[in-house]
Amino acid sequence: MPDRDQMKRQFETLYGPGETRLFFAPGRVNLIGEHIDYNGGYVLPAAIEQGNYVMVRPRQDGVVNLAADDLPGTAVSCRLSELDSRRGREWGSYQLGVLDELIRAGVPVRGMDMLFSATLPFGSGLSSSASIEVVTATAALALAGASMNGTEIALLTQRAENSFVGVNCGIMDQFACANGREGCGMLLDCAAVRCEQIPLHLDGYSIVIGNTRKKRGLADSKYNERRAECEAGLAALRTKRKELRNLCDLTEEELEDLAPLIRDETVYRRVLHAVSENNRVVESVLLLKKGDIEGFGKLLNASHLSLRDLYEVTGPELDAMTESARAYPGCAGSRMTGAGFGGCTVSLVKNEAVEGFIETVSAQYEAAVGLHGEFYPTSAAAGPREL
Ligand code: GLA
Repeated sequence: MPDRDQMKRQFETLYGPGETRLFFAPGRVNLIGEHIDYNGGYVLPAAIEQGNYVMVRPRQDGVVNLAADDLPGTAVSCRLSELDSRRGREWGSYQLGVLDELIRAGVPVRGMDMLFSATLPFGSGLSSSASIEVVTATAALALAGASMNGTEIALLTQRAENSFVGVNCGIMDQFACANGREGCGMLLDCAAVRCEQIPLHLDGYSIVIGNTRKKRGLADSKYNERRAECEAGLAALRTKRKELRNLCDLTEEELEDLAPLIRDETVYRRVLHAVSENNRVVESVLLLKKGDIEGFGKLLNASHLSLRDLYEVTGPELDAMTESARAYPGCAGSRMTGAGFGGCTVSLVKNEAVEGFIETVSAQYEAAVGLHGEFYPTSAAAGPREL
């Protein structure tokens, strides 16, 4: 957590003295269920301890000022009546997009001075954007004296990212950041937007996040390409199965029977990933409920291989880090997490092996790709709140 007094001093330097309130929303790590939220599948993310903080104070003049502790001065200033002109992907559009959606939903959003501080690396697959969106919504709702439940916040902030920022993301990230519960993963049915909290009794294992520090350069364009390939697959399957709503409604056996309908081999591999990944999520939850962590770890490995070979969203950095992780004794399983093409990995490591794991994987990763990775042992944490 950032030093609250220091944050307050910076806030007052920017905006003058007076009362402030402080809010937090977590980032997330997706344990399993990758690239299937937009295919109506099940995913299993968990909120993490790192996230975004915002210190805020209402203003009477309908102006919103945004600053961050690592950016000089007030980065963005905008009237609530002129939000529309700020659409785009700059820092600031994420927050303003959320305010725009809140206003559309009838919330009496107030002008505000805001100072953001992140403990989450930006653009590394841990949902820094969703975390900023959710903390903005949480603070703006509180200042307006309004409230929404976690599902409503998730759907609203996803809409903001889709329409205001222009990123066609699924529901997983915003949902996970808005609904975290300490010690739990969220089994989210993305088609119904319904979630079951799954206690993570990891029985002597820790969740270790590894940051490849390779920026996800291709992520946006490839993300849209994968979505389009999945849509093409669904359209082909619907020529025979008209009622089919989502790829993840299929079992692997059904897909095998319908395979000849999909003529494009690449599209078929994308579809096979989606259907098999959905099964792995369901199976993971059964194993977790039985306390079979090693079995769960094997599914993490299988998920990575499917993302590498069928869905093709990994890349040399994510592959090198997870390969080295998998080879380490005491690591039950390891995979990429998030959109891919860089960003982070998630591994399950025996508590007593964590230190050695970090040392060894870090050295092997650096030797393989020439980048210095970072590792954060983490646990499933709670959702957004006022501090
Ligand atoms: C990004 C998107 C999510 C999800 C993941 C891949 O994080 O924002 O909606 O599609 O990629 O699982």
